[in-house]
Amino acid sequence: MEPFSGNRRDFLLFTGRSSALIFLASCASPITNLLSPNSNLTGLIPSFDDQLLLAPGFSSKILISWNDPINQKEYFGFNNDFIAYLPFDDTNPDEGYMWVNHEYVHPYFVSGHIPEEGKLKTKAQVDIEMKALGGSILHIKKENNEWTVLKNSPKNRRIDAYTPITFANNVSVKGSKIAYGTYANCAGGVTPWKSFLTCEENYQNCFGETLYNENGLESHEAGRIDSAWEHHYKRPPEHYGWVVEINPFTNKFQKLTGLGRFSHEGACVTKAKDGRIVVYMGDDKADECFYKFISNSKDSLDEGVLYVASLEKQKWIPLTYDNPLLKNKFKTKLDMLIRTREAAQIVGGTPLDRPEDCEIDPITGHVYLNCTNNSKQKRPFGSIYKFIEKNNDYASLDFQSSVFLQGGEDSLVICPDNLAFDKLGNMWVTTDISEDKIGKGDYKNFGNNALFYIPMKGMNAGKAVRVAQGPKDCELTGPCFSPDGKTLFLSVQHPGEGSTSKNITSHWPLGGDNMPMPSVVAISIPEYLRK
Ligand code: FEO
Ligand code: CA
Ligand code: CA
Repeated sequence: MEPFSGNRRDFLLFTGRSSALIFLASCASPITNLLSPNSNLTGLIPSFDDQLLLAPGFSSKILISWNDPINQKEYFGFNNDFIAYLPFDDTNPDEGYMWVNHEYVHPYFVSGHIPEEGKLKTKAQVDIEMKALGGSILHIKKENNEWTVLKNSPKNRRIDAYTPITFANNVSVKGSKIAYGTYANCAGGVTPWKSFLTCEENYQNCFGETLYNENGLESHEAGRIDSAWEHHYKRPPEHYGWVVEINPFTNKFQKLTGLGRFSHEGACVTKAKDGRIVVYMGDDKADECFYKFISNSKDSLDEGVLYVASLEKQKWIPLTYDNPLLKNKFKTKLDMLIRTREAAQIVGGTPLDRPEDCEIDPITGHVYLNCTNNSKQKRPFGSIYKFIEKNNDYASLDFQSSVFLQGGEDSLVICPDNLAFDKLGNMWVTTDISEDKIGKGDYKNFGNNALFYIPMKGMNAGKAVRVAQGPKDCELTGPCFSPDGKTLFLSVQHPGEGSTSKNITSHWPLGGDNMPMPSVVAISIPEYLRK
């Protein structure tokens, strides 16, 4: 398969050269069918509009926005990211729980803190921010072909940076069996026993991180000045950086230490041939690794073995405490899991270009991993890897990996981040060019962040079509299909991220002088893409 050629060829026929993208973006119509690899599908031209743009045939509706009340006392949080859906009852797919992550705050919009003034946040400001993160559990329902959040349902609730959450297996971390809160919730997953997994990514920004010197002596590195809460609340950094299991049916919440501690992007859950549960996970930091956890069980993630991918050896390498190299380095198995990155480096995990979301093609069973970019290695556009497990068994310790799609001008997919597959096995990818780089330097021709549709079979297999584009400074995140495949739930995260108190860069969706509002939208998928 030659996954990169089609769009580029069609595009060059039209423009003569790729740098004409900006010129095209300023033309009257933002759409051209010359970018389309599908006879019925016309893609968007990259642009810098402050709107949610959709390709013809798609339509959208805002489901919920930041600060919308979800009951008498709680509000929908800020910077919605991962979205997942679980029907209450398998006989009715049209009513159930929607889980939405709230990743981080824009201090000025949420608490009124102005980072450029260089002052620490007040306790009142920190309290507002801690309430705005974590996740929302929402009761949603489809009626008359439209999904709605039932905003006063007693089933609605928030989990935030105060919620007490136990560690799995009754483990004690830094002297406590309970962590207070979850935040930095990026992507996630869903288990077969109907619980949500929410992943703590850039946890170090708020309560800092513990560093170790060559003699194992600890020191504390403070959180980021614009994000930190630690001058008002003392919490061990080791209580964060985990995958958190949220069961909306039992209200049991736990942090899964067996899955390791790092900048957890997402958690793609599947079953091995013998029924054990397997979870694939990226560590979203430049030159960090791709992991999988193989549970000992068919109905729990409490106990199992964590593995790291070696692309050089095409093998999964276990992080087991009986390995003398690891036993010499770490005091206990838990200590090893808390410092997963160091353990992975010792056993030879392959450094990758910010491994982010991972999903499994439902038709072929192949595992796909998005790597966003790596500025340290001067690879600005990212790539999508394909992993084929030996015998297509997710418990296999051997795999074949290859690059499925190289980000850049040829594929037009720049900085792939989130991934989803529809029922037909076609891929949907969202991009994450960081807000301060959109429209500049390497990224000047590629418009705002977008959603791409990539057919996986037929003559256009592997050719990406830009089907949605977000407003200014935003990322489109958390793609999640409704059970009938007719609706794609999508987060419009951090519109106006580059704003300061003096300059608001996006006013989506209300326009005028309004503040931007991170929101979840329901996008209707055209019928011809569902057949
Ligand atoms: Fe929160 Fe790696 O994106
Ligand atoms: Ca992400
Ligand atoms: Ca990202």
